[in-house]
Amino acid sequence: MKTFLSNLEWRFATKKFDPEKTVDKEDLEKILRAIRYSPSSFGLQPYHIYVISDREIKQRIKKHAMMQSQVTDSRYLLVFCARVDVNKRISSYIDLASDGSATKKLLFQPLKIVVGRFLKNNIPKEGTPGWTTRQAYIALGFALAACAELLIDSCPMEGFNAKKVDETLGVPEHLKSVVLLAIGYRKDEPEHKKVRFPNNDLFTHL
Ligand SMILES: Cc1cc2nc3c(=O)[nH]c(=O)nc-3n(C[C@H](O)[C@H](O)[C@H](O)COP(=O)(O)O)c2cc1C
Repeated sequence: MKTFLSNLEWRFATKKFDPEKTVDKEDLEKILRAIRYSPSSFGLQPYHIYVISDREIKQRIKKHAMMQSQVTDSRYLLVFCARVDVNKRISSYIDLASDGSATKKLLFQPLKIVVGRFLKNNIPKEGTPGWTTRQAYIALGFALAACAELLIDSCPMEGFNAKKVDETLGVPEHLKSVVLLAIGYRKDEPEHKKVRFPNNDLFTHL
């Protein structure tokens, strides 16, 4: 029986997608659901994802992504953007979590101070954008795992010019693209075997 763990060994960063093959809308929804349910620091979900199927937009992005064919040959291209407006996000989060209750809203107010203090003390160097980028990468990981679970191929990509991609998509100021994920079906099997360091390199059991 295929298990999630064996699917993780099956998956690979697909270089050649079959442009003729489509991904079911329902499967796409499942992948987006995995992103939606991924954990994030303080639960703020400080990211936004563009889900692109439009061929013309993908063509334009490809020019700013080292002409990688995955961008255009995959069925969907997800552009993960990190938010830079954390304070606004906290307010939106409080509104959402309070369910319209003024009392609950009041109870949530300390979150602003707690997050502010956390950002000041714990991540002063990389700053807020670095922190929200890390949250976006967790969501990327969940999307990669969901693809594997569904036996859908994928390729994460950092090889692109974020500024140009933001311009191409008309990304608003409070968002910055950080990583791409191409989703579709492989045309070819992987050319190389998986390269993974052994357990004793990766893990220390104490
Ligand atoms: C954050 C990130 C960025 C990556 N960027 C690219 C990329 O721009 N182009 C590409 O072909 N592969 C890219 N990869 C794929 C990696 O090269 C690949 O995951 C790695 O070599 C391990 O191989 P595997 O995923 O097939 O097991 C990226 C992977 C990650 C996680």
